[in-house]
Amino acid sequence: MIVAIMAPRSGKTSGLAIPSILAAPGPVLLTSNKAANDAFTATVDARAEVGTVWVLDPQQIAHHPRRMWWDILADARDLAGAKRLAGHFVTASVDESNSSDFWSAAASNTLGALFLAAASHRRPITDVLAWLATPADRTPVDLLTDAGHHAVAAQLQGTVSGATETRDGIYETARQYASCLLDPDVAAWVTPSQDLPEFKPFAFATSRDTLYLLSKDGGGSASAIIAAAADAVMRAAVVVAERSGGRLDPPALCVLDEAANVCKISDLPDLYSHLGSRGVIPMTILQSYRQGQRCWGETGMDALWSAATIKIVGSGIDDADFADRLSRQIGDHDVQTTSVSTSESGKSTSVSMRTERILPPDAIRALPKGKALLLATGIRIAMLNLRPWYEEPSAKVIGPASARATKAITARAIAKTHGHDDFGLSA
Ligand SMILES: Nc1ncnc2c1ncn2[C@@H]1O[C@H](COP(=O)(O)OP(=O)(O)O)[C@@H](O)[C@H]1O
Ligand SMILES: [Mg+2]
Repeated sequence: MIVAIMAPRSGKTSGLAIPSILAAPGPVLLTSNKAANDAFTATVDARAEVGTVWVLDPQQIAHHPRRMWWDILADARDLAGAKRLAGHFVTASVDESNSSDFWSAAASNTLGALFLAAASHRRPITDVLAWLATPADRTPVDLLTDAGHHAVAAQLQGTVSGATETRDGIYETARQYASCLLDPDVAAWVTPSQDLPEFKPFAFATSRDTLYLLSKDGGGSASAIIAAAADAVMRAAVVVAERSGGRLDPPALCVLDEAANVCKISDLPDLYSHLGSRGVIPMTILQSYRQGQRCWGETGMDALWSAATIKIVGSGIDDADFADRLSRQIGDHDVQTTSVSTSESGKSTSVSMRTERILPPDAIRALPKGKALLLATGIRIAMLNLRPWYEEPSAKVIGPASARATKAITARAIAKTHGHDDFGLSA
């Protein structure tokens, strides 16, 4: 279970994400906010040789045509799942510190109730959007009652029939959280389709397929969908592992690149403890420890950091506290100093021992690009040379493949502006 922290442009994607994907023996999930010349283009051809490639690109950052759909409501058929799904939309929009204020909490509850109402009757997510637009609509309350979710129905009824300003405030907040789904082109990726294959997390767990989850960052982006899909895949993988003797073989690799930007799974720290020893390998890649704290809160980030059995810290750590903490963790060593003094009786040499940090904080903050510290359970802290894919022998193949895939993205973007939807596609 891996957490990696390195500054932007320091080799997270080229030195960690891409090499691990290329070496993965089983299914692979990747989240990313970049398409051209990044992990998607560098690995898509190689992965297409071992299994099906699924691309969830709701915001068209790779201009990838919609060739799949994923049922975002599949896990929302019970209350816990519906709440978790609502949580993804809240977390994608607000920082951890604001997610428990009245409006966020109420909007989250309402979203959860609407997801549950739709999911328990196999209604599509577009129904939820219609209900969000008309708070007075009684349909979701009736559906919840029908499905036996009386407490949730009563709660939703309470919100709907409460003071108008409060109700409208809650609904407006909920609409903001779910705003990415208002775009029909985005919603289509997570709505059942007759003509396209369905991505199924359970089948994925035992496949050698690859799921690319692509999204822009920031509020209003489709990152909630990305987080929900990654969460669903990892949870399904754990369930499959438990059913099949404890662990997935070959293991599933889940690379959450730019996790704090496009894959804010709020209970990721908890999830880490479930994934351990199940053959589901999460690799959460962050730009700084602080970025993690903004996303999961101080306690959450500490929990994630402790749950990681492999911690990788690379160059560009511009955080004095974090550098000092690491330096203390790396520990001290004794340094022998010899001093020579001259007096009337001649020269005398004295040897003394001094305790020094093995790696002082300023040395950690000055780690050059390409170096990283490895803190792994059970071994001493090590200094690594990263091996970015472009310096490996396989770059002869991967480089041109990535260039081709990048060119195809550009071609699709150009074709789109000229109205030919399917131009420039390889396979
Ligand atoms: N194909 C390549 N050839 C040479 N250098 C590259 C190549 N791809 C990336 N780099 C170098 O690696 C650095 C890190 O890139 P990247 O792994 O994308 O950073 P991060 O993911 O940490 O933001 C870039 O600044 C660039 O100089
Ligand atoms: Mg990157």
